Amino acid sequence: MRLKGLHHVCFKVRDLDGLEVFAADFGLITAERSADRLVMRTSGGDECAYVAIRGEEDAFLGLAFEAEDRAALDEAAARPGAGPVKALDLPGGGEGVALTDPDGNQVLLVHGMSRRAAGEPYPELLLNTPFEKRRLGRNQHARDRGPARLWRLGHAGLFVKDFAQVTAWYAENLGLIGSDIYHIPGQPQARIVGFFRLDRGEEHVDHHILAFMQDARGGCHHISFEAQDFEAQQRTHRYLGARAYQSIWGVGRHPHGSHVFDVWRAPDGARFETFSDTDLFRASDGTNVHDISTVVMDEWSDDTPERYFA
Ligand SMILES: [Fe+2]
Repeated sequence: MRLKGLHHVCFKVRDLDGLEVFAADFGLITAERSADRLVMRTSGGDECAYVAIRGEEDAFLGLAFEAEDRAALDEAAARPGAGPVKALDLPGGGEGVALTDPDGNQVLLVHGMSRRAAGEPYPELLLNTPFEKRRLGRNQHARDRGPARLWRLGHAGLFVKDFAQVTAWYAENLGLIGSDIYHIPGQPQARIVGFFRLDRGEEHVDHHILAFMQDARGGCHHISFEAQDFEAQQRTHRYLGARAYQSIWGVGRHPHGSHVFDVWRAPDGARFETFSDTDLFRASDGTNVHDISTVVMDEWSDDTPERYFA
């Protein structure tokens, strides 16, 4: 099955008003709002990237992947436990079929959604270095201080109760391929963290579309939206800090995937991340396995804060 990417994530949220204010400050745009549901999109042309349904508790419900063709939905619907192909009740329309992963998360495969015109990117940064001068006779173009323009939902991180079982399920059902996988020190078979990418053959794809972390709590660890570049992330970092939101971690750069990251706490406790400048790999580029004790999580600092996992 060929997938194009993540389409949206879905959460149950007690305080939709608070979540909407935060997500707008973070850079998402309200696509639809009712008393019981909030749908938000990015500036990249999607109609929907984040869905919150009003509930009595804050909880992760699931995620949706966009399939390359309608046939993938029929194929998925024939699997044991899969739902039928149904019309999506979301901005952009389309159809979807629901699967359930071994941790009980709903995994929707969707196809046929409409898209809208994408927003305007910022003028590209032109960087002068000691070795090359590219920007001559002018300053960097001014940019807004404020919410980032976000371009797509790029990846999500999940806490999983049984790493081996869950990653096998995503490999079998969605064709995901390990990019970098970490094991317990001295026990190469005891794998506990992994970053998985799409299988699109010789086409280059993001280093990961899902990250899995062994953790008995289950649920979502973070959701991540692509920002234009580190300048956009840094500006948003300062903007969110000035509005007294809680910075969880960043701005930093991960060694595996290389992307610049910045993670913030939403009012429902969820972690919202911006990323930019991620590595790209093909299906044939293989899988790297590491002893977790050798892994540095941030190229720019030594310690991962406790609150990143709390
Ligand atoms: Fe991430």
